[in-house]
Amino acid sequence: MAELKQIVVPDLGGQGEIPVVELLVAVGDAIQADQAVATLESDKATLEVPAPFAGIVRQVKVAPGERVSAGSLVALIEVAADAEMAAPTAMSAATPEPQAKSHGTKSAALTDAAIAAREATPIAHLDGSDAPAHASPAVRKLARELGVDLGQVVGTHRAGRISTEDVQRHIKSILSRFTGAETEGAPDHPASAPPPGRTIDFTRFGEVEIKPLSRIRRLSGAHLTHSWSSIPHVTQHESADITELEKLRVMLNGEQKSSGIKVTMLAFLLKASAAALKAFPQFNASLAGAGGDLVLKKYFHIGFATDTDEGLLVPVIRDVERKGVLDLAREIADLAAKARSGKLSLAQMSGASFSISSLGGIGGTGFTPLVNPPEVAILGVSKARLSPVWCGNKFEPRLMLPLSLSYDHRVIDGALAARFATFLADVLADLRRLLL
Ligand code: COA
Repeated sequence: MAELKQIVVPDLGGQGEIPVVELLVAVGDAIQADQAVATLESDKATLEVPAPFAGIVRQVKVAPGERVSAGSLVALIEVAADAEMAAPTAMSAATPEPQAKSHGTKSAALTDAAIAAREATPIAHLDGSDAPAHASPAVRKLARELGVDLGQVVGTHRAGRISTEDVQRHIKSILSRFTGAETEGAPDHPASAPPPGRTIDFTRFGEVEIKPLSRIRRLSGAHLTHSWSSIPHVTQHESADITELEKLRVMLNGEQKSSGIKVTMLAFLLKASAAALKAFPQFNASLAGAGGDLVLKKYFHIGFATDTDEGLLVPVIRDVERKGVLDLAREIADLAAKARSGKLSLAQMSGASFSISSLGGIGGTGFTPLVNPPEVAILGVSKARLSPVWCGNKFEPRLMLPLSLSYDHRVIDGALAARFATFLADVLADLRRLLL
């Protein structure tokens, strides 16, 4: 004969009352032994309450939001006759092992490889629906504070639910793209430290001061080392005649005085780069599949290196090809200010398919910027100078802008880079080419 048995909250490892965040079964459901029936979530962990027996759910005794503690009754299940043989005590309180002591769950656990595969493809939701990401208020608050878009996070819990640990894993995964470090257990500054055994006591030579590198500098140091040591770099140099463009820029700034928008060369460089990326898709790409595939991106998000007191940051402007120069100028100013005041979110630093590093406001005649992986090219810009240019029958003073295009030679050949740089210079010399 069938009997009703209790499912109760298991030992919570010393935690007091915690809320039920989700019911995973309803009255009438047939459930398997070990199947989770409810999810509880404290600030520290998410736990699933498993059913110790197979059977039919006859009553559910808790509701989402209700606080429970170890031993609280969650549901009554009608146990099948054969299960009774194994567990003959009617109405016995089942106290199973909790399914997860922290945020990982047995039943819904994904392998690291599966998570990596899902994270590699930016999907909004696991089930491909437009449903909002599934997460508790505490996780949503954390995501908001860290600037994480929950739609981009892979939830490893039942029904794709996102836990604190999933958010942390997502951030690590983004940071690892900056640092080139592994996501789990990566040292804080893996690549920027001197080689072992090479510590030098500089005090032997004179007075010194030891100053710890900022976290940003350590992260970018590791990332730059990764870029430098893993990408076969070549830099193509070009110079663009921006005499006419500079006249336009000065005119626009005159017109925009009251709006407070300041148009710098960078806004035009972004616009011209988006056109060049469209014309040469190999530059708007990333290597994938252990270097065997090329991912060609259909979007044009461009990062720009920003010098801050704490080190280099690269905010990203999205969909550059759809924006006008004035909007780009406004966005550059806004993101650069955020970078300098430490207010950039991770989302605002992610997703670029190309970068620009402009040192033109400072000086220089050329440099070799390092590609920002997983991108395959970066444009370095130096200071524009009036130079004598031979115009067929005489020298004319023209404002020449030095461009230095570094690229990943595994993906891009020298001839293609020369064509890209020439295209860019032609567009900057005559913006009407953007209409072509
Ligand atoms: N040639 C000549 N002058 C230039 C120029 C160029 N290529 N680019 C900018 N300028 C001028 C600007 O017109 C402006 O002049 P003004 O004040 O007389 O009008 C001045 O230099 C300052 O411009 P800046 O504030 O640098 O604006 P920007 O839009 O060009 O650049 C940032 C914005 C955020 C990119 C810039 O401030 C920055 O941080 N650059 C450093 C990037 C870096 O560190 N890269 C190295 C990576 S290895």
